[in-house]
Amino acid sequence: MEYRLGLIYGDGIGPEIVREARKVLDKVCEKFNHTFHYEELLLGGASIDVHGVPLTEETIEKAKASDAVLMGSIGGDAATSPWYQLEPSKRPEAGLLGIRKALNLFANLRPAYLYQELKDACPLREDIIGDGFDLMIMRELTGGLYFGERKTIEENGVRKAIDTLTYDENEIRRIARRAFDIAGKRRKKVTSVDKANVLDSSRLWRKVVEEVAAEYPDIELEHMLVDNCAMQLVRDPAQFDVILTENMFGDILSDEASMVTGSIGMLSSASLNDTKFGLYEPSHGSAPDIAGQNKANPIATILSAAMMLRYSLDLDKEADAVEAAVQKVLTEGYRTVDIMSEGCKLVGTKEMGDLIAEAV
Ligand code: IPM
Ligand code: MG
Repeated sequence: MEYRLGLIYGDGIGPEIVREARKVLDKVCEKFNHTFHYEELLLGGASIDVHGVPLTEETIEKAKASDAVLMGSIGGDAATSPWYQLEPSKRPEAGLLGIRKALNLFANLRPAYLYQELKDACPLREDIIGDGFDLMIMRELTGGLYFGERKTIEENGVRKAIDTLTYDENEIRRIARRAFDIAGKRRKKVTSVDKANVLDSSRLWRKVVEEVAAEYPDIELEHMLVDNCAMQLVRDPAQFDVILTENMFGDILSDEASMVTGSIGMLSSASLNDTKFGLYEPSHGSAPDIAGQNKANPIATILSAAMMLRYSLDLDKEADAVEAAVQKVLTEGYRTVDIMSEGCKLVGTKEMGDLIAEAV
């Protein structure tokens, strides 16, 4: 089959990790007889450098014309990069938020999974890790505080900033359905996370999630307050299957969940709308401090490419092959520096990409 794929190389380590993912995708094409037509899209700092803005109409149109987009990472060092001298709406992150909104990518899937081979990197105690854990965060991505009205004003000589947190029932219903659908293919449990003891938006969230749950009688639903969830993630992560939550809570909890796996360089993500299209990116950032040094771990991006094969292109066998290749290379003891442990073989970004491509 033939597919059109957008590639956003992005900033920092972005270009080097996307290059490795592309290597693996090329191998998939060769082995399974597909053709991928790649188109490069500019976003974030790379777009600012060329166009003066982090997101252009051209990038949005090219993304819409693709079957899926694979992205590295965007953003730079806020203390030193000239991008952060620009007003907030012109900085790299605004481009990312802009493309999420423009493409209606409301459903953000962030898996957090403990590889048995990487148990040593997990910061939790052995008795807490037990047999490991495998959870999926379903984060709402186009609403809430991120997209509410905001302003900074001065009232009687006092500076004041306002951000608003809004959700309507339709936004809640569609993300809740996604969470229940995914839970149906996993261990059939949804933990909906909110702050219903304080926030109206959370109280509505809870009501609508319960209405949706009634459509899925075989899936267990529990509600959990966000502060408790933050605690439970380090106390007993294995209790979770799918965590369903709003934008801001999901941002925070997904960083926590990824740290608990001990290997943020391993975690993929998918941002989906109500078509087959998706934007796929590693859960980690652009790590400008190690950019261009052949040190970055390309596995999160390679696994994001596997998610892309599975969710947007319906190429399950191919996705399985990529995931199995990652597993094989880890089992053989190859590690990038971020997941290195004693007795393993240290490799760079490129070598890791070669090994995984070879194993496909
Ligand atoms: C993420 C990031 C973004 C977010 C930033 C870069 C705007 O932290 O994807 O989690 O907050 O959504
Ligand atoms: Mg984040």
